[in-house]
Amino acid sequence: MKIGFIGTGDIAEAVITGIMRADFPVQEISVSARSRHISSRLSETYDTVRVLEENQQVIDSGCDLVFLAVLPQQAKEVLEPLQFRDGQEVASLIATIPVEQIADWSGATGLITRAVPLPPVAELRAVTVLSGPSERLETLFERLGGVIVAQSLQQLNALSIATTMMGTVFGIQETVTEWMGQQGVCEPDARRFMSSLLLALAKTGVDADRTFAELRRAHSTPGGLNAQTFEVFSEEGGRDALTKALESVLSRTLAASDKN
Ligand SMILES: NC(=O)c1ccc[n+]([C@@H]2O[C@H](COP(=O)([O-])OP(=O)(O)OC[C@H]3O[C@@H](n4cnc5c(N)ncnc54)[C@H](OP(=O)(O)O)[C@@H]3O)[C@@H](O)[C@H]2O)c1
Repeated sequence: MKIGFIGTGDIAEAVITGIMRADFPVQEISVSARSRHISSRLSETYDTVRVLEENQQVIDSGCDLVFLAVLPQQAKEVLEPLQFRDGQEVASLIATIPVEQIADWSGATGLITRAVPLPPVAELRAVTVLSGPSERLETLFERLGGVIVAQSLQQLNALSIATTMMGTVFGIQETVTEWMGQQGVCEPDARRFMSSLLLALAKTGVDADRTFAELRRAHSTPGGLNAQTFEVFSEEGGRDALTKALESVLSRTLAASDKN
């Protein structure tokens, strides 16, 4: 398979790194020159990657699958001048822009799928959400950590919006380690301690065939300290705040989709 990337930024680099690390069978990966420092780094690191100056050259390089990895506000301007080969498959990584809009701007006639990979695909450790079935993308992302094919736009939005928790998860750790700092624990120790705790808990979540509610109860003796932390967190609006944050991102996502 030959693959192309239009927009060679952070997430394109993560996907390409994952493809290489997984030893996924690709003959060639053509990438657009921008971002120059990333495309140069990739072509210097991997013989399979070649940099092409124009976006159209990526499409014309004979690739079976073209990834679109520019920012939403760049998409219209980047896509409108392009001429896709009849039936050429497209994977749009562009947040919030519906598949129909990508088809309209690009004129692409092949299968267009939205994909939501996350940076840890570079280490083959993230599950990628797809907006619908695609044999090529399912095979590829399965090797990069796994795939969930959304069954509806509502599901796709929910799965995509859950990924916006990344900053908040670090923010929670930041808050706890700051509090530990006030109690005299040095930052490196606090960070190492929290990270290893969360790593172990994440592994429990992946391995155990139990809901998070069951896991929470299993980790909270009634009347015990763990239970107290969650009770106070909930009473003080912590759970509601998280739900509100997700709802606010959903509203923004729906508004952005409507605008396009
Ligand atoms: N990062 C993530 O975790 C993540 C996850 C899933 C989806 N996404 C989505 O993936 C897309 C890319 O995100 P990102 O984080 O990789 O952003 P990014 O690092 O800013 O990448 C955007 C890339 O597009 C390039 N670009 C801008 N104008 C271009 C043009 N006319 N022709 C060709 N390339 C052009 C930029 O190059 P210059 O630097 O030269 O301007 C940059 O390399 C976004 O739509 C984002 O929502 C990101």
